[in-house]
Amino acid sequence: MEGQCRLSLASLLLLLLLLLLSATTLTSAADYSPTDNFLLNCGGSSDLPDTDNRTWIPDVKSKFLSSSADSKTSPAATQDPSVPDVPYMTARIFRSPFTYSFPVAAGRKFVRFHFYPNSYDGLNATNSLFSVSLGSYTLLKNFSAAQTAQALTFSFIVKEFIVNVEGGALNVTFTPESAPSNAYAYVNGIEVTSMPDLYSSTDGSLTVVGSSGGVTIDNSTALENVYRLNVGGNDISPSDDTGLYRSWYDDQPYIFGAGLGITETADPNMTIEYPSGTPTYVAPVDVYSTARSMGPTPQINLNYNLTWIFSIDSGFSYLVRLHFCEVAPNMTKINQRVFTVYLNNQTAEPEADVAGWTGGHGIPLHKDYVVNPPDDE
Ligand SMILES: *[C@@H]1O[C@H](CO)[C@@H](O)[C@H](O)[C@H]1NC(C)=O
Ligand SMILES: *[C@@H]1O[C@H](CO)[C@@H](O)[C@H](O)[C@H]1NC(C)=O
Ligand SMILES: *[C@@H]1O[C@H](CO)[C@@H](O)[C@H](O)[C@H]1NC(C)=O
Ligand SMILES: *[C@@H]1O[C@H](CO)[C@@H](O)[C@H](O)[C@H]1NC(C)=O
Ligand SMILES: *[C@@H]1O[C@H](CO)[C@@H](O)[C@H](O)[C@H]1NC(C)=O
Ligand SMILES: *[C@@H]1O[C@H](CO)[C@@H](O)[C@H](O)[C@H]1NC(C)=O
Ligand SMILES: *[C@@H]1O[C@H](CO)[C@@H](O)[C@H](O)[C@H]1NC(C)=O
Ligand SMILES: *[C@@H]1O[C@H](CO)[C@@H](O)[C@H](O)[C@H]1NC(C)=O
Ligand SMILES: *[C@@H]1O[C@H](CO)[C@@H](O)[C@H](O)[C@H]1NC(C)=O
Repeated sequence: MEGQCRLSLASLLLLLLLLLLSATTLTSAADYSPTDNFLLNCGGSSDLPDTDNRTWIPDVKSKFLSSSADSKTSPAATQDPSVPDVPYMTARIFRSPFTYSFPVAAGRKFVRFHFYPNSYDGLNATNSLFSVSLGSYTLLKNFSAAQTAQALTFSFIVKEFIVNVEGGALNVTFTPESAPSNAYAYVNGIEVTSMPDLYSSTDGSLTVVGSSGGVTIDNSTALENVYRLNVGGNDISPSDDTGLYRSWYDDQPYIFGAGLGITETADPNMTIEYPSGTPTYVAPVDVYSTARSMGPTPQINLNYNLTWIFSIDSGFSYLVRLHFCEVAPNMTKINQRVFTVYLNNQTAEPEADVAGWTGGHGIPLHKDYVVNPPDDE
């Protein structure tokens, strides 16, 4: 069953992060420190800080432009007030295949592409249609940032991938589609950051929900992050992550129907203790110190489901990582709070018991599941 992750379409396993039950320490001793960390402001000409106070370097005259192909730089024609200046107000535009080459050490990298659909150099935003490849992986295919942003009702979008590279160089190639003939490619910002091995599973313990098939995630598996939510909590900006510069978002917009459950927050005097073997960079304390529960009353909680809905592309396998941490002061024992987890209506966890699993409250735990959604959903 090893092949299940490596799908014909684009060799991508999409990644869906959902934090279901997510208490408080102020330490961040074991945060991750990336060896490679590039923030490239495409079309920019000087170092500039973003709203998160991270400095972006310009790509103009930079060593990363390995291709001799034609490209142009341009400011965005207009600025939506919700769109930050850096890296979104400038872009590099490509009419033919164009490669950026980043000198990196061997290992896993987060690669993030930033797009602000707009008119650049007088071009119509709707004519931008392109593919992005990295080594043997096609990360984006026939991609329209304008359509994607419109569908999501976002003004700008970030596409985040995880790839393992052998070292030397990480080459990213932008290729305009051959049709329509006026198709072009562009990008506003590129991030390349080394990361630890967060997701590998090669021992068959990772299975597809509803089947016994084992799934392998190894060096050859590329992943795309599609959702990463801080359940019951607020947005977490890249600088407030654990050295991995991930963005975490409020989960409430994804909840189905009116059953929002009850948000719970760890008492400030509760210490979140990562068990030995769980590095703190897995997820920040803020993620584990907030949760959403179905409340303590059986007459209520047995009569509804707390459901999150995610729109996805079919044709891929999805890794769902649930982060749990019991935060209620009086929930410390086995069998006190037991629930079922369904993924796509299939039982993923018949008897989830967080305090039972971890042996108490304030102890983080995460569990991974794989879902293969039917083609039409
Ligand atoms: C932003 O970063 C600079 C240099 O890295 C630092 O001097 C400054 O204090 C930071 N500002 C804020 C608001 O964090
Ligand atoms: C996976 O890649 C890393 C970094 O490139 C390397 O150190 C490791 O040996 C590889 N693992 C396997 C099983 O090939
Ligand atoms: C851009 O192209 C679309 C589709 O071809 C068209 O509807 C739209 O009017 C164009 N916008 C501008 C400003 O030309
Ligand atoms: C590429 O996307 C465009 C716009 O969404 C669509 O009209 C076209 O059919 C797509 N082409 C292919 C080959 O999928
Ligand atoms: C990346 O691009 C550079 C320059 O074009 C080339 O020398 C190198 O072989 C490429 N490396 C990989 C891994 O594709
Ligand atoms: C910690 O908070 C819990 C719940 O609010 C409370 O019962 C307990 O007395 C507090 N302990 C201390 C040392 O403040
Ligand atoms: C735990 O505390 C909450 C809030 O005070 C209360 O509603 C709930 O009934 C308590 N649960 C148990 C099992 O004691
Ligand atoms: C789950 O079940 C509900 C109710 O039967 C149905 O409306 C929904 O389409 C199902 N969802 C999936 C992903 O199977
Ligand atoms: C909750 O969802 C599961 C799986 O779709 C379904 O079997 C069950 O009937 C639902 N329960 C309620 C109370 O809606």
